[in-house]
Amino acid sequence: GFVILDRHSRVNASGIKARLSSVDYNGARFDLDEVSEFIDLMQVYEGAMYEISTKLEILDDEFQVRFSHDPIHHMERRLKSVDSIIGKLRRRDLPLNTRAIRDNLFDVAGIRVICNYRDDVYSVANYLSAQSDIQVLRVKDYIKNPKQNGYRSLHVIYAVPVFLSSGAHYTPVEVQFRTIAMDYWASLEHALRYKSDLPDAKLAEHSQTLLDCARSLQNIEVQMQNIHRDINGAPQVGDA
Ligand code: GTP
Ligand code: MG
Repeated sequence: GFVILDRHSRVNASGIKARLSSVDYNGARFDLDEVSEFIDLMQVYEGAMYEISTKLEILDDEFQVRFSHDPIHHMERRLKSVDSIIGKLRRRDLPLNTRAIRDNLFDVAGIRVICNYRDDVYSVANYLSAQSDIQVLRVKDYIKNPKQNGYRSLHVIYAVPVFLSSGAHYTPVEVQFRTIAMDYWASLEHALRYKSDLPDAKLAEHSQTLLDCARSLQNIEVQMQNIHRDINGAPQVGDA
């Protein structure tokens, strides 16, 4: 077992309705005829998110029973807020309606899976991706190909069937798989990017330091992974 952090409140019809009808997004408004469809859609995203998290819990339990090892350290879940959804539609010049959300936003439901070791990231992701009732829509492997700033994580978008009275609704869920060290790094980098009003020179200096930190953390991770493999009799990795 592991801790699950829910970074959102449950889908709440009256809250969503109030938000959609009161907020004017820079002169644009959500189509109010579609408020109830929006609420239904959010409920489907929430269902899809729970389907995936249950699958992850089952996989983690199986590893615990078979290998006495918990690959997942903890998990975070969140549904995008009404404001973030509308903000993203606006930024992309998309119409403010449910169809635009369904067709274009693949990260309304998001799960972050934080693993102990890099091997765990790939085994959990690969076992989940192989499950025959879900589809892999997109993979971005920023572990094999880190971003310029040093960001590392494995992003997979799954399509998950959510069964309603009207049948199966295949719904996207964005899953970010990463190690504790990658998560530690990404939290600080995120804070630097979004929450600071530091002068440009300071920002540039900290960004460079963060890039160095990303490389150091990667080296530490490989060394610790190798100790862990040795304890468990698995072959060593030399790459960093
Ligand atoms: P957007 O979701 O519109 O950003 O585009 P995308 O889906 O193509 O993005 P991508 O899959 O690259 O990243 C999606 C999410 O990963 C972001 O919302 C963040 O949570 C996380 N992420 C991506 N890049 C970074 C980064 O450089 N730093 C941090 N801290 N998080 C990142
Ligand atoms: Mg995204």
